[in-house]
Amino acid sequence: MTPDLMEQGAQRRAAYEAKQQTQRSTESGGRDASYGRIARLGVPDFTQGVALYVDDITVSFDGFRALNKLSLTVNVGELRCIIGPNGAGKTTMMDCITGKTRPDSGTVSFGSTIDLLRLTEPEIAQVGIGRKFQKPTVYEELSVFENLELALADDRRVRASLFSRLTGEQLDRIGQTLTTIHLKDDAQRTAGLLSHGQKQWLEIGMLLVQDPKLLLLDEPVAGMTDEETERTAELFLSLEGKHSLVVVEHDMKFVDQLTEGRKKVTVLHEGSVLAEGLLSEVQANEKVVEVYLGR
Ligand SMILES: Nc1ncnc2c1ncn2[C@@H]1O[C@H](COP(=O)(O)OP(=O)(O)OP(=O)(O)O)[C@@H](O)[C@H]1O
Ligand SMILES: [Mg+2]
Repeated sequence: MTPDLMEQGAQRRAAYEAKQQTQRSTESGGRDASYGRIARLGVPDFTQGVALYVDDITVSFDGFRALNKLSLTVNVGELRCIIGPNGAGKTTMMDCITGKTRPDSGTVSFGSTIDLLRLTEPEIAQVGIGRKFQKPTVYEELSVFENLELALADDRRVRASLFSRLTGEQLDRIGQTLTTIHLKDDAQRTAGLLSHGQKQWLEIGMLLVQDPKLLLLDEPVAGMTDEETERTAELFLSLEGKHSLVVVEHDMKFVDQLTEGRKKVTVLHEGSVLAEGLLSEVQANEKVVEVYLGR
């Protein structure tokens, strides 16, 4: 397994464990324990219309500033594309949002109330932030349906028999997700037999069944065929509004399809925002051309 795969597997397991813990504390401690957890994690407040505030964050690795006073705001339901050259800090920014890396300074908040810098990685997943890494990490030997079921499952079902009975509501959610990710006809197929692009969609489905408010997608179409890339853009466009999405990509055709000529993109360079605006505007921006697009 690549480090990326292991990391993602570990993150998913950590999220399950946190869920299990919540379940156990709810079962043993009843309402108070559950209330305590909610009070501690906080309830996101989206009434200001903002899903994510990244404010003035700096991350140094041995004196090198991977992020340098980076600030960014993503609105509720917005689909925001982030572009920028290799090493600009795009992945590091996602690491800060998901709790994998702690910035030296600055703030990151989910809605206007949840300080993400206080929470652990599994807790951040629990409050409603899903992250997709570049490599798909589906359970190859299980079917597409079972993969989604596993992602949805709480501890009791996972432990009892992997796939005992689902509630109608859960079945509906899996069914809707299968439609969304274009895998309805492949529900019973073994995931290992899917194409690379289909595995990526399944992986996105595994996030979607948990109904995250914010989805972070790092180079989601890398390695996809042109057709898969186009369908992925359609998929993301269908998620816009219901979820906030932050998409990091180098594929400008894909970014163009996602932004539909009217949405803002953010260009990162050397750990800061270099430019923000319509894709056509940033493509015409001399500084952007010089450091990125013109190469
Ligand atoms: N754990 C780490 N230790 C040391 N340096 C790091 C670490 N993580 C990232 N960096 C450095 O921080 C900078 C930003 O890296 P990052 O991976 O965030 O870039 P990126 O914009 O995602 O690039 P790419 O488009 O290639 O994925 C790079 O110079 C990278 O080498
Ligand atoms: Mg990266």
